[in-house]
Amino acid sequence: MDNQVAVVGAGLMGAGIAGEFARGEYEVTLVDTNEAALEKGLNSLKKSQQTLVDVGHVSQADAVSALGRVRLTTDLAEACSSVGILMEAVPENLAVKQEMYAQFDKLCFPEAILASNTSGLSISKIASATQRPDKVVGVHFWNPPHVVPLVEVTKGDGTSDATAEHMMKVCNTLGKKPILVQHDIPGIVGNRLQYAVVREALHLMAEGVASPEDIDLAMTAGPGLRYGLLGPLRTADLGGLDVFCAISDYLFADLNADKRAPSVLKDLVEQGKLGAKTGEGFYSYSEDELDRVLAQRDRVLLGFLDVLKREVGDE
Ligand code: NAI
Repeated sequence: MDNQVAVVGAGLMGAGIAGEFARGEYEVTLVDTNEAALEKGLNSLKKSQQTLVDVGHVSQADAVSALGRVRLTTDLAEACSSVGILMEAVPENLAVKQEMYAQFDKLCFPEAILASNTSGLSISKIASATQRPDKVVGVHFWNPPHVVPLVEVTKGDGTSDATAEHMMKVCNTLGKKPILVQHDIPGIVGNRLQYAVVREALHLMAEGVASPEDIDLAMTAGPGLRYGLLGPLRTADLGGLDVFCAISDYLFADLNADKRAPSVLKDLVEQGKLGAKTGEGFYSYSEDELDRVLAQRDRVLLGFLDVLKREVGDE
């Protein structure tokens, strides 16, 4: 039971998470509602393992044996019956998740941990659909799971320390960089930081301050480059807290504080321009272009992680 994991939802995240557990020597059952979704998940899993092989992070033999540890099924009851950890990666909808958790609770051993990949829904509310809130925990992998090391282990009101600590340990053995989040807070930590940036980027764009390309460049060639190594608080230390204090005093009041998604974003969504998946968002993507952008993203980020590992190790 301890080395068996069910990953429920074989979409963008579930397939990648299954790969992470399989490379960590877990026996993984990947579950979805239909064969087509499972097939799609398996294809994306194969692609991500191949990327890791191509950049030399994983040997061909290890990738093959990892794939051999992933089983596909549409039978949720059978998948739940023997696992120590259930990783849930179904769509981000509280009612859907609660309905699923009520089922997991009935189908899994009482000792099994139920972990949600939710991007920021309340763990306490998800757990309320079960009789085991102490064993329900947020375990938020980032996209793409085979590349991004961060995992946010988040406690709900009822999550026990033992459950959170166990999942921190598991994530460490998978080679991830877990952080422990003590309070169940919307957006957790990473998305709160990310969306503070997104809100300001959309505001700058709507105000015509700079083009989308230049706004992105201001991040990738500026603060974004540093953040991979230094984080915002260390960056402030290095810049001088007196300087950051003086700038905060006049700049915070001027930053965007919208409470809802702005029309510059809503309009695109209403027009069906959802970004890469529909071929158009702030940029346009042909299928070839998208493949190129995704492959480049994985290659560059994995290379950057190699440099980080060499320079700073596991600090
Ligand atoms: P997705 O839509 O790509 O995949 C969801 C999968 O769940 C689909 O394959 C769907 O068929 C399956 N599913 C739905 N109901 C099911 C059921 N009853 N039983 C089994 N499978 C079922 O969604 P995605 O993007 O993978 O998101 C999953 C979770 O991960 C969400 O909570 C999301 O917020 C979170 N997340 C998403 C990230 C992203 O960048 N897309 C990043 C980090 C977290």
